[in-house]
Order: sequence, then structure tokens, then C-alpha cells
Amino acid sequence: MLSIIQSTSFGLCLIAILVFLIVNDEKNERFETEFSYNLNKWHQKGSYLTYKNEHKIFYISEKLQSSSKKTTTLLFLHGFPSSSFDYAKIWSQFSDKHNEQNDINQLVTFDYLGYGFSSKPLNYEYTIFDMADMVDRLLLHLNVHSVVLVAHDVGDTVAQELIRRDNLNNQNNFKISKCILMNGGIMTDIYKPIASQYLMRTKYLNNLISSNYLFRFNFFKNSFSQIFGSLNQPNSTELYDFYLGIRFNNGNKVLPLTINYMSEREQFGNVWYDALNETNIPVLFIYGPADPINPRSTFPQKLRSDLPRVKLSILSELIGHYPQFEDYFTVFQLIKKFIN
Ligand SMILES: *[C@@H]1O[C@H](CO)[C@@H](O)[C@H](O)[C@H]1NC(C)=O
Ligand SMILES: *[C@@H]1O[C@H](CO)[C@@H](O)[C@H](O)[C@H]1NC(C)=O
Repeated sequence: MLSIIQSTSFGLCLIAILVFLIVNDEKNERFETEFSYNLNKWHQKGSYLTYKNEHKIFYISEKLQSSSKKTTTLLFLHGFPSSSFDYAKIWSQFSDKHNEQNDINQLVTFDYLGYGFSSKPLNYEYTIFDMADMVDRLLLHLNVHSVVLVAHDVGDTVAQELIRRDNLNNQNNFKISKCILMNGGIMTDIYKPIASQYLMRTKYLNNLISSNYLFRFNFFKNSFSQIFGSLNQPNSTELYDFYLGIRFNNGNKVLPLTINYMSEREQFGNVWYDALNETNIPVLFIYGPADPINPRSTFPQKLRSDLPRVKLSILSELIGHYPQFEDYFTVFQLIKKFIN
């Protein structure tokens, strides 16, 4: 008798937990109230562009005062799994009136579908090709005909695809005048993903760890902070903003889909690598050497020997995977110098 009661209550408990998990997971949480001052300001700056009739792309376009007749638009392409907000620090350097801008008269950035403040449909095929299409669509919308690309992480791969299209008799609706890449996995053979990237690609397990119930701040924080240099760790406010950018619109649940870029790289990595080597567009690679994903023991040497026309700038040895965040002032100066 006792054991029947025990097993019944055990069963009921189990059902209650499952119901709780399911209900909890379905809740479409809004996080605006938790945004920091800076993230809120970033959100306010943006607008939305409709993409493929039903999805919304969050973008920011800001015109700057420029004394020069020549005009330059910078387009910032963010990485995985974060958002355009990665560039907030460097953006303020460029838009600061006290920093002489020379030719730069417009700054543009956006969140890919599945990231940041953009729509995050669960039933969607997320690809690098589609991300490149989003760039084309946005620049057409903004009536921008020529850009300097500034890219980071998976953004490098998007930039490589845009360069590949440019190399083929320019299939883009715009011109790329120069390109700056930062710490992206352009060399698939030496790329070292961190544990959480493996987990996000593991069937079933990925849906579990990306659920609202398990994708908690502490879990995120521990894996995310390890890719920053030890002395340039994001503080608690900044880490929470990175986290909220992912959680917004239930974005944690699309992580197993958006990480598909890794499979695409395995498939098309060589084509994208060759596109960088063959292009006539001047390319600068800004490298943070304390990056566990693109190891310093192999990355710089291989870049120098494989892609002799790509200019390489190595940041100080404690800068990790997020140069535009960890050492934004140096990166700002390097970009300015390269485009003028
Ligand atoms: C973290 O740094 C940001 C600047 O990016 C600052 O606004 C914020 O107050 C800092 N937060 C803490 C807890 O130090
Ligand atoms: C890149 O092009 C150079 C010639 O400009 C060539 O020597 C080198 O082998 C190429 N690299 C790769 C990875 O194909």
C-alpha cells in the first residue's frame, strides 16, 4: 500500500515537474525592463526592416558630420551568438564629434535573423548565404552603394561570402571598398570550438541546454567569459546584456539552428578562404591573440603564409576573442588608419 502511494506521488511529482518545464519554456519572456542603460540606448537607436515579408531585422544607421567630399559608410557585422551591440563601444568612438572622422560619414549595423533584437523564427533555415542576402537587402533599403566592411567571428564568414560574390563580377548591389576582419574562424583546419559550441551541435542535448529552463545566466556566463582575455573580462552588467541579447525573443532556442554556420564552414570553408586570397579588395585582419578558438600558436603564421595579401595586425597579448570590445580604442585607430 505504502509503495503504491509512494510511486503514485513520485509519478505525480514527475508530471508536475514536466508540466512546469513545458509551461516555463513556452513563456515568451520580455526582458526590456532588465536592459542596462547602454543596451537600452542601443535598442532605442534602432529601426526594423521587414525581411522576406514576415521577419523583422533590427538595424541602426547613423549619419556623421564629415568635412570630406569623399564619403565612406562603415558596415559592422557581428559574431555568434551575440549581436550588433558588440560594437557599441567602438561605435561611440566613431560617432564622437571630438574624434576627427576624416572620410567616414555613416555607420550601419544590424542583427542577423536569429540574433539580438531581430526576429528569431524556429522554423527557418539559418545560413551564411542568407545572412549575406540580408546585408544586400539592408544596403539597398538604405540606398548605400559602397561600404567598408568591419566583421567579427561569424561575421567574417558573411564578409567572405560577400567578397566571393564581389569577385564574381560583383553580384552584390553595392561595392566593397575595403574589409576589416577580426578573430573569425576563417581557417577551418585550426579552428578550436569551445565545449558549449560542441554541445549546441549535439542532437537532443542541444535542445535541452538551449531551453529556457537550462539556458540560465550562470551557465551562459561561465562558457562565454572564457573567450575574453583574462584582464578584459566583461563586467557583470555587460555579461548580463550579452545574455539578454540572446534571450530576447526566445533566442536561446534558435542557437541549435544558428550554429549551423559551423557545418557550412566545414563544407564551404575552402571556397571562402580562396575568395579572400583572390580578391583585389584590401583586407586587414585584426587579431586578438589570447583567443582559445583561433589559437596563437598557429593562426598568425598560417595567415601570413597562406594569405600574403591580407594585412595582419596583432593586438597586445592579453586581448582575446572580442577585440572590438576588449581593446576598442586600438581597434578604432587601426580601422581609421587602414581606410584613410
Ligand atoms: C560595466 O561597464 C559598463 C561600460 O561598458 C558600465 O556602464 C557599467 O556601469 C559597468 N558595470 C559594473 C557593474 O561595473
Ligand atoms: C594565395 O595566393 C598566393 C598567390 O598570390 C599563392 O601563392 C598562395 O598559395 C595562395 N594561398 C592559398 C591558401 O591558396
